[in-house]
Amino acid sequence: MKRSLLWLPSLLVYALLASLLAAPLRGAPAAIAIPDNHGAEVAEAVLRDGGNAVDAAVATAFVLAVTYPEAGNLGGGGFITLHHQGIDRFLDFREAAPGRASRDMYLDAQGNYVAESSLVGHRAAGVPGTVAGLWEVHRQYGSRPWKTLLQPAIRLAREGFVPHPQLIERTREAFADYEGKTNFREYFGEMAEADASRQPFRQAELAATLQRIAEQGPRDFYAGRTAELLVAEMRRGGGLISRADLRSYRAIWRTPLQFSWRGYTLVTAPPPSSGGIALAQLLGMKDALAAEFKDSPYLSTRYVHLIAEIEKRVFADRAEYLGDPDFVKVPVKELVATEYLQQRAQQVNRTAISPPPSVKPGLAESLQTTHFSILDSAGNAVSLTYTLNGSFGNGVVVGGAGFLLNNEMDDFSVKPGVPNLYGVVGATANEIAPGKRMLSSMTPTILLKDGVVHGVLGTPGGSTIFTSVFQTLVNLFDHGMTAPEAVSAPRFHHQLIPGTLIIVSRCCNLPEKTRAELVAMGYEVRQNSWEFGDMQVIERTPNGGLAAAADPRGRGQARVIELTSRTAKPVEPRSRPAAVAE
Ligand code: DON
Repeated sequence: MKRSLLWLPSLLVYALLASLLAAPLRGAPAAIAIPDNHGAEVAEAVLRDGGNAVDAAVATAFVLAVTYPEAGNLGGGGFITLHHQGIDRFLDFREAAPGRASRDMYLDAQGNYVAESSLVGHRAAGVPGTVAGLWEVHRQYGSRPWKTLLQPAIRLAREGFVPHPQLIERTREAFADYEGKTNFREYFGEMAEADASRQPFRQAELAATLQRIAEQGPRDFYAGRTAELLVAEMRRGGGLISRADLRSYRAIWRTPLQFSWRGYTLVTAPPPSSGGIALAQLLGMKDALAAEFKDSPYLSTRYVHLIAEIEKRVFADRAEYLGDPDFVKVPVKELVATEYLQQRAQQVNRTAISPPPSVKPGLAESLQTTHFSILDSAGNAVSLTYTLNGSFGNGVVVGGAGFLLNNEMDDFSVKPGVPNLYGVVGATANEIAPGKRMLSSMTPTILLKDGVVHGVLGTPGGSTIFTSVFQTLVNLFDHGMTAPEAVSAPRFHHQLIPGTLIIVSRCCNLPEKTRAELVAMGYEVRQNSWEFGDMQVIERTPNGGLAAAADPRGRGQARVIELTSRTAKPVEPRSRPAAVAE
């Protein structure tokens, strides 16, 4: 017997054990928190059928590309934080700058930013990563056939679905942005009529694209018929994505950012997202100021001010140090070190607003995204955030292929100091270069307790993503809220520039007294024009059960799924706590 074959029996035992561990256990509940009902139904069906969290995530992500076109996508990119059989991984399928992109590509001859150039139309698109990412996670961790997982999306595209009123409203709003500039109305015009007729909205070209992807995998998207259609669309509109860009695109496994917090381990997004570093900094600085927070009741003026001061420092570091780690050296360890955060927290001004010029990066040396959370009955978890960047991306539908392209190039710093769609600035670390991935704020996160998944959460919201994840964790842990309470509570956000602006979520404002006192301190408190965040949370409850909550700001559904019973228990978000300790 060959020496190597001696390993065979133990390998077989190992493989058997591993598959037993990975197979969802009948009886243990699973949970999902998903931004629309079509996605939720499909995720539940896959889990009931014995699929694991990755299978449910792949099927759901393709469904959202059909039923949640503002953000669900084939033409965008994103991240997955994964816990599978006790192993934690992070998959980066972020878009990349095309080979022909260049640092100043959105500036005119005078060096000024050309309005909308990184946001609307063909030149705003980065090389899409979603299909490569979903294939990669499926290839390594999926347990159901790829083709089967795409069937629900194909059916919904071919047979149609009745659009949700929120989707119809968002589509109508988008017409104004793209009118006369892209082919958006040609593809989504019918959506505007949809509620009157209650007719299903069908997407035949998209169905055919999904069918090709089901049969050929990513080869079709990156080198086959879909690639041809995408490159032809680029030629029609002066876009930069080439055949070579598509062929060379790869999803990348990265080491997730992990840090300890209150006896838990947080597993979250490393660069090219700023989200994980920012979350570690927010939680770390808040803990360093525990004494101050003790005297600052939830949503009081001092509470909001202290958090705004912390956020200022996070955004100063973000703008200076963070970018694609394959292009710039990101000092991750230094930025999340406890001593650094303690020292940085001491710079917080307890009583007055620190003006932006006084808040420097701290190291001593030189609008629409979507998220879903899935936990299967074997304890495997997927936290997935993906995006086209702005709602409906750059507004360009790939002719003949029926899917929207992203405007993720706007997440680069197009020029030092020029704010992007979300008002954040950057410097050289996040400047454009061919093949580089633009800095993100997406923060798909998993919370572990002694190696077991305790929570899964994430949200869209551009630069408000990590401040929202932070506030949701604080709501759960510091303020003892249930998952539905934590996602529906008011959220606020400050990001250094403008130096005195605090934005609050559209649905739920801060208490009136807090607002008045913040204004008296010199802040401007503004309700955001768009609703930031659509938090999707799964949490293990103190009695060992599961709770799941979908943000009432969106149209999501959360369910705890008892696999032994026939019907899942939908979890209704509680009514919003409109009046919070006024
Ligand atoms: O990667 C990022 O940080 C942004 N492109 C995310 C955009 C987003 O969340 C839009 N949602 N409202």
